Parts: sequence; C-alpha cells; structure tokens
Amino acid sequence: MAYKYTPWLIWVQLLILAAAAAAATTTTAGAKVPAVIVFGDSSVDAGNNNQLSTVLKSNFAPYGRDFFGGRATGRFSNGRIPPDFIAEAFGLRPYVPAYLDPMYNISDFAAGVCFASAGTGYDNSTSAVLSVIPLWKELEYYKEYQKKLRAYLGVKTANTIISEALYLTSMGTNDFLENYYTLPGRRSRYNIDQYQNFLVGIAESFVKELYGLGARKISLGGLPPMGCLPLERTSNFFGGNGGQCVESYNVVAVNFNGKLNVLVGRLNKELPGIKVVLSDPYYIFLRILRKPSAYGFDVASVACCATGMFEMGYMCDRLNPFTCTDANKYVFWDSFHPTEKTNNIISDFVIKHVLHEFF
Ligand SMILES: *[C@@H]1O[C@H](CO)[C@@H](O)[C@H](O)[C@H]1NC(C)=O
Ligand SMILES: *[C@@H]1O[C@H](CO)[C@@H](O)[C@H](O)[C@H]1NC(C)=O
Repeated sequence: MAYKYTPWLIWVQLLILAAAAAAATTTTAGAKVPAVIVFGDSSVDAGNNNQLSTVLKSNFAPYGRDFFGGRATGRFSNGRIPPDFIAEAFGLRPYVPAYLDPMYNISDFAAGVCFASAGTGYDNSTSAVLSVIPLWKELEYYKEYQKKLRAYLGVKTANTIISEALYLTSMGTNDFLENYYTLPGRRSRYNIDQYQNFLVGIAESFVKELYGLGARKISLGGLPPMGCLPLERTSNFFGGNGGQCVESYNVVAVNFNGKLNVLVGRLNKELPGIKVVLSDPYYIFLRILRKPSAYGFDVASVACCATGMFEMGYMCDRLNPFTCTDANKYVFWDSFHPTEKTNNIISDFVIKHVLHEFF
C-alpha cells in the first residue's frame, strides 16, 4: 500500500525515537546485546570466590597487576579474562563484575554479571572438592538476580535484558583434571566416555533451565587443550614428562567439545527462538602453544608466576622472586590459567568466528 507521510505520522515517529533515546540513556536495553551474563569456573570467575571460604582465591598480588588500577579482583590472571573482552566488544563496560563482589550492585549488574566460581564444574562433586559454588547454585543466584533486575528496572525492561543478553558458560576442565582423574569416585562409576556424556547431559539441562528462565542467546564454552597446562605438563601425577603436553587429556578435550557441538545442534532444533553456539577455544589455543612466537610470546610451557610449573592461588604470592616481569611474554600466567594477552587473543578469535552472530 502506498501512502503519503503526513506531519502527524512524522510526529509519532519522532516521539518513538525520543522514547527510545531516553530508554538508551538509562539502560542499555536498546542495544543488540544489553548485558553479558556469565556462568562457569576460574576461566571466567571475576571474583565470586573472594566471598567464600575456599583455598582457591586470587584476590592478592601479583594477580591483577595488569588489570585496571592494578587491582587483584579475584580473576585468575594478571589482567582481564574472556568475558571482559567480550563485553567490551559489544560496546558494554570493558569488564563484567562478580555477583558477590560488594563493590557492585544491581545498577552495575544490569549491563553484565558473573556468577562463575573458580574450581567448579558441571558435576556437583567437582565443586565439593574445594568448597566452591556448584552450577545449580550459580543458577539460584541468577534467579535472585532476575528478581532484583525486575524490581530495579520494571518487569518489561528487565525481561528485555534477560532475553536479549548474551549468556556465556565456561567450565569442564575441573571435572576432568580435579575430579575424574584425581579422585576415585567418578572413575569407579563411569568410563571416560560415559563421564563425558554425564557432563553433557548436565550442560543440556542447564541450557534448558536458562531457556525456561528467558535466555535466548547462549554460548557454551569448549575446553582448552588441557593436557598443555603447565601443571599437567610438570606433574608426574598427571603423566607429565619433562614439559611435553599430555596428549591423552587433549584427546578428552577434543572429544568433549565434539559432544558439546552435537548438543548445540540439537538444542537449536528443539528450542524455538534459541540461538546456542559453541565457543571452542581448542584450536586457536593449540596454535598459540605450537607457535608462540607468531603471537609475540617467548614462553609457552611454563607460567609467569613463581617457577611457572605448579603454582597457582596462594602459592603465587607477590614475594616469589621467580615471577616474571613481563606477563605478555608468557602464554600462561599461573600453572592453570592464561595471561591476559592469551585471553585477549582467544576472545578476539571467538568474537570474530563465533559470537559475531550476536552483533
Ligand atoms: C548502587 O551503588 C551506587 C554507588 O555505590 C549507589 O549510588 C546506588 O544508589 C546503588 N543502587 C542501588 C539500586 O542499590
Ligand atoms: C546437583 O545438586 C543439586 C542440589 O542438590 C540437585 O538438584 C541436582 O540434581 C544435582 N545434579 C546432579 C546431576 O546430580
């Protein structure tokens, strides 16, 4: 139908534009991705463990020495972690605060919030090893967050944020390395293939619960080449031999990522309106490890912190004379976690190749 613009119509459109502009100044609800919401383990924990009684903490120097203000927030790195880079890429604040961090409240969390807890996994029995937050409890915190968000912004705006937000999950490494291959319980019950299926089943229920709560844009994080973490390379216990990657763990990571990929395909078919993607860091991480100099690194097999072979958390203290001066030359910050620079490269890769769908 052809029609002529009348002054009246133009007025209505101007009013709509003005209303949209007003909404944009108070919240980011008009943005394509108004918030980044994070679940998982130390790969994405922004400091929730600071509030727990667990030994798995990093809210002291030298952690965070390259973060804004040199602050040790509880992130397991010298600087930022992937959700921070991803939030920045979506035009949000360049960091995602931890839900339990008393420095922040719902007005901050409206644009992004992290429920992750270092040491956790898909499996309840993994979080129990170091008394950290199990995944079901991260989800309970998320439900509480939804209530606070609705009280703060009103139901309509809150619901828009909830459905338009990008949900990032990243966990699984601890289920294998700290639980399955370390403790007898799960190994006596499942072979490795069955254990992977068990974890993928939990991932599936988790996505379905998030979907039921209104989430529509979800990135499941894949596993890194976990046989190449300095701790695994060094430790006899993990089959390390003189600094080589332990291939058997890398095979598990590849298999697990493959199973997650199948799950992602199925969820996209089953759940109307959902968009799930697999953010797989494996191959880009492996490329960095195989050719560190191509990415500006000098050292890939040991970490910056302390001797770089087995220390993390409290063993990475600020007085350790071995800690490196320039973390940008190292792929790993401590024996289990990448440096900010590595996090940045991997995040950029995932943003460009996977998360671009959400821009
Ligand atoms: C959040 O914290 C800021 C600054 O600390 C404060 O001004 C604001 O009133 C708080 N908002 C809510 C909703 O508690
Ligand atoms: C984990 O624990 C929670 C709380 O007890 C329970 O609801 C959930 O079913 C458990 N998950 C699995 C996979 O056993």
